[in-house]
Amino acid sequence: MTTAIAVEHLVKRYGVHAAVNDVSFEVQRGEVVGFLGPNGAGKSTTLRILVGFLGPTSGSARIEGHDVQADPHAAKAALGYMPEAVPLYGEMRVAEYLRFRAELKGVGRAARTAAIGRALELARVVDVKDTLIDHLSKGYRQRVGLADALVSNPRVLVLDEPTAGMDPNQIRDVRDLIKSLGGEQTVLLSTHILPEVEASCGRVVVIDKGRLVAEGTPSELGALRRPPRLELVLRGAPARGIIAASPFELVSDHDEGDARRFVLGTPKKDEDAAIEALVSELVGAGVGVRSVERGKASLEEVFASLTHAHEPEPAAEPEGGEAA
Ligand SMILES: Nc1ncnc2c1ncn2[C@@H]1O[C@H](COP(=O)(O)OP(=O)(O)OP(=O)(O)O)[C@@H](O)[C@H]1O
Ligand SMILES: [Mg+2]
Repeated sequence: MTTAIAVEHLVKRYGVHAAVNDVSFEVQRGEVVGFLGPNGAGKSTTLRILVGFLGPTSGSARIEGHDVQADPHAAKAALGYMPEAVPLYGEMRVAEYLRFRAELKGVGRAARTAAIGRALELARVVDVKDTLIDHLSKGYRQRVGLADALVSNPRVLVLDEPTAGMDPNQIRDVRDLIKSLGGEQTVLLSTHILPEVEASCGRVVVIDKGRLVAEGTPSELGALRRPPRLELVLRGAPARGIIAASPFELVSDHDEGDARRFVLGTPKKDEDAAIEALVSELVGAGVGVRSVERGKASLEEVFASLTHAHEPEPAAEPEGGEAA
């Protein structure tokens, strides 16, 4: 059994409004998967159902094979959950709180001190272990929430916007941590921040308005959007002829100072070799090569196109009109 998380036809309705509308996906053991979507997409609702905090209207969810409705204890035993709003006890000190949580989660007395030490270290809250939670900054509080999710060393981690409220250094630490957990532990994390999934996730599930709209690796999602591009800034008359004779398709070109920018579609096969050959031919012909850039659609572009499918795609030219 290699499936750590299985979500099948999950529906959650509030009145007539479906916060989650027939969502299915799986996460395999050791994967780090990003659950991506704009505000109100249904991320937190899905995760709450997954960890057994909320019952679905229909559909099912399983953690390591245990149905979260039918067998909640077994499912929860495998889980570490960091909710969107971390519920902490302000009057407790950090290490004391983690001890309390470890006990609740059934971490044996003998193993508790080591488990707390490990969680403090992984979430980088060792330096505040004796501080009252009420006296912590928001980012540190988030980190204590993360330590809480980690303290039972769960096989499956479900993190709802783990880096919300953190500064850039903290965000980097948490991304590195999440990445390092992969392989050993299974991680499903929600976010609406795109660089987050590129930095730490092997796969992405995109949700919008309660529906699953895409799924794949960050680079597969990039490929959905448009074919790879090669942009060259070149000076010298032979450039155009050399490009025309190459396997690259000329998409557009325009003057850039005393040089010219060429946007090319790359060939489907042997792209690397084709680029090397083109550049060496250009240089050999005395063309000044100012810049060579390989472009792929950024995840931002993909995200925008997936979650606003009703809006027209921008044309290749930046000044392309936006027809209503
Ligand atoms: N208890 C509730 N009662 C009614 N509607 C709710 C409830 N909880 C969530 N919703 C609605 O369900 C939809 C999905 O909310 P959810 O919190 O899952 O979104 P999200 O993707 O986590 O968004 P965010 O990025 O803002 O955290 C929203 O339209 C929200 O208003
Ligand atoms: Mg949310």
